[in-house]
Amino acid sequence: MSTTLSKLSSAESIELEEKYGAHNYHPLPVVLAKGEGVHVWDAEGKQYYDFLSAYSAVNQGHCHPKIVKALIDQASTLGLTSRAFYNNVLGEFEQYITSYFGFDKVLPMNSGAEAVETALKLARKWAYEVKGIAENQAKIIVCENNFHGRTTTVISFSNDPVARKNFGPYTPGFVKIPYNDTQALEEALKDDNVAAFLVEPIQGEAGVYVPNDEYLAKCNEMCKAKNVLFIADEVQTGVARTGELLAVNYENVTPDILILGKAVSGGVYPVSAVLANDEIMNVIKPGEHGSTFGGNPTAAKVSMAALKVIKDEKLAENAKELGDLFRAEMNRIIESSELVNTVRGKGLLNAIIINDTEESSTAWNICVALKDNGLLAKPTHGNIIRFAPPLVITKEQLMDCVAIIEKTLTEFTK
Ligand SMILES: Cc1ncc(COP(=O)(O)O)c(C=O)c1O
Repeated sequence: MSTTLSKLSSAESIELEEKYGAHNYHPLPVVLAKGEGVHVWDAEGKQYYDFLSAYSAVNQGHCHPKIVKALIDQASTLGLTSRAFYNNVLGEFEQYITSYFGFDKVLPMNSGAEAVETALKLARKWAYEVKGIAENQAKIIVCENNFHGRTTTVISFSNDPVARKNFGPYTPGFVKIPYNDTQALEEALKDDNVAAFLVEPIQGEAGVYVPNDEYLAKCNEMCKAKNVLFIADEVQTGVARTGELLAVNYENVTPDILILGKAVSGGVYPVSAVLANDEIMNVIKPGEHGSTFGGNPTAAKVSMAALKVIKDEKLAENAKELGDLFRAEMNRIIESSELVNTVRGKGLLNAIIINDTEESSTAWNICVALKDNGLLAKPTHGNIIRFAPPLVITKEQLMDCVAIIEKTLTEFTK
């Protein structure tokens, strides 16, 4: 029996959002009112498995008690000071996160896009002050079909027409090459004005594109040879999602600049971070970059708690083991399905490809049917459905979800 969890019905909540909110998202028609672990409940009390995890922000599961406790304790002691003053938590967090990921220094921000902006500024400044590129000439290589956020500069090097159209003029200084193409990188690196190469270890928003083995290691090597910074955007892939703490760990790559967001706080508070060694990070001086909320005591405590949960609960190991199982099960379903033709991913960041055109509404309709059967997922692009549950999911729960997916796909082909 489900019980109502909200004074507003789902229909009423949707109506309010439609009327008073900007229409910058197209949500699945479900209104969530509660979350715990791998589950969420709608306003009427119906339970679902969350197979999106807030775009991989909730790796530690919804409302993880240790992370929530850190939030409450710190927010009721000292929430925000700004960086006009020191606070007694930030230094401890900086020491914790830098030793956790193996870098000299961190620059804390709030959103993923802000962290990407931070990394770009850092790379440009390093290019002028350390590498010696002439002022305003620095170029940054990016990949086609990237997703790094929604700011004006970040969409300047997107090739998604929806993200770009009528938001120009765009920020110059970016060179776009195909993803998973080391030869294209080699060509682009011939330009002495290249400061950095920015890459997602797996292209998440584009539809969970996993590059060839050794792609990242080769790119990193090529960048090193040209004194070009290798920047890994692990906002989506990082913090255990792909079965390693970082997706670059699969290829033993240490990026020059590491960008983190989302699960670095377990989805409890907006926290992002840019990590680098002193030679790079020391180019930033007072007044040149920052944010009122970046590095606040609440964020610092929440993030330490969130990162500790990842290790204590062995979430990378769980993601690796259950990710292998999930893909094996999807491949079993695909063998006898005309509707799905591929599953791809690493750890618990996966996607299935629906046998239909990018423009079709099949994937959307499947997601609506999955919702009706108790599992929430969302298409990334037209015909691609991403499956990314919280990493605290158990084997039994995962198999329950496989059964929901199988049943839904079968219903759908009837
Ligand atoms: C790889 C990557 N970078 C950056 C971002 C932007 O993060 P945010 O939405 O927190 O600005 C995202 C968001 O999905 C992402 O996947």
